[in-house]
Parts: sequence; structure tokens; C-alpha cells
Amino acid sequence: MRLHVADHPLVAHKLTVLRDQNTASPTFRLLVDELVTLLAYEATRHVHVESVDIVTPVTATTGVKLADPRPLVVPILRAGLGMLDGMTRLLPTAEVGFLGMQRDEETLEAITYANRLPDDLSGRQCFLLDPMLATGGTLVAAIDFLLARGARDVTAVCLLAAPEGLAVVEQAVGDRADVSVVVAAVDERLNDKAYIVPGLGDAGDRLYGVV
Ligand code: URA
Repeated sequence: MRLHVADHPLVAHKLTVLRDQNTASPTFRLLVDELVTLLAYEATRHVHVESVDIVTPVTATTGVKLADPRPLVVPILRAGLGMLDGMTRLLPTAEVGFLGMQRDEETLEAITYANRLPDDLSGRQCFLLDPMLATGGTLVAAIDFLLARGARDVTAVCLLAAPEGLAVVEQAVGDRADVSVVVAAVDERLNDKAYIVPGLGDAGDRLYGVV
């Protein structure tokens, strides 16, 4: 697994406001959107491109364009949905699939309750969106899901990660170069309810309100 922690004062500033319990949902949503756009820049560093011939007003030259098949962006419902616009802003031609995953609050295991993805992901670069990498169970299940359908590589974009969750992902995927995790920060630990500390609370609730 390749881990990239965004080390940038703007990321740190926006994350600090996001963590603050006094930050209300409208600001929270806006900050998530902005942070994901910054993370998307790093997450797409290895996106596949192919060369293309073009003609500028001055001369013929070559450049690059995103290669086929198009990348697939997969928000994990529900909180990952809050990251979708920020990601597709930089990857507007990507396709979007959806995975509904929830952790069982007692066993803490990931349950897949919705799947709207192509069956065949052969050769596709996939970008998983999940704000909180806590126990790692959901992310490992989602990575397995995509790789089992033939995904070429998977990059998870998360806002915060706990060391425990990163260790679980590392243990599951080992040193495979086709799995990457891009995060804004790695926090201290998980508490006994598997919340990230200091964290930002329940990302889904803070984005959308408690249901
Ligand atoms: N999910 C969240 O929304 N927050 C946490 O701290 C952990 C998991």
C-alpha cells in the first residue's frame, strides 16, 4: 500500500475548521468539498494518460489526455457522497459508481447494502471516497470488491485516518503497489467506540444531520 499524507498549510487550516464542533453543516460541506479538491490533485498523480496530437494557433505539438477506460470514482455511501463534487471537479470525465457500506456498530464489520457499479472493472483506475478511515474494515471490503471485479488499481481518498485502520489496510493489501491511500491527516488513535481521536465526530451526521 502506498500512503500519501497531504502536507500543506491550507489543508491543515481547513481541517482545523472542519474538526471544530462549532462548525455547522453548510460550512462543513463546503470545507469537505475544498479539501477533497486539494487531495484529488495528489490522488490523481498516477492517473493514466496517453499522448495526443494537437495543433495550437502557432504549431502542431503533442500533449496528453486521460486514457481509456475512463477512471471510476466510487463514493462509499453515505458520507463519501459529500466528497464526490470535489473529486469530479478535477476528473469531470470520470464515471461514478456507488457502494453502500455500513459498519455494524456491534461487530464493527462492514456490510454492503447497495452496489451500483459495473460488473467488469477490467483495466479501470478506481478512486474510493470515504472521509474516515477508522477501523479499516469498510475500506478493505471496498478495495476487495473493486479488485475482485478487475480494477487495475485503487486509490482511497480519505480526510482522516487512524493508525489502527491504516495497519488493517496494510495488513490486508501488503506491499501491493496497486492500492494507495491519500489522506489529509493521520490522527492519534481510535476510541472505544471506534471513533477517530481527535477526529471530527461522525462525518455523515456532520454533513447531512443525524438520521
Ligand atoms: N466514522 C466517522 O464518521 N467518524 C469516526 O470518527 C469514525 C468513523
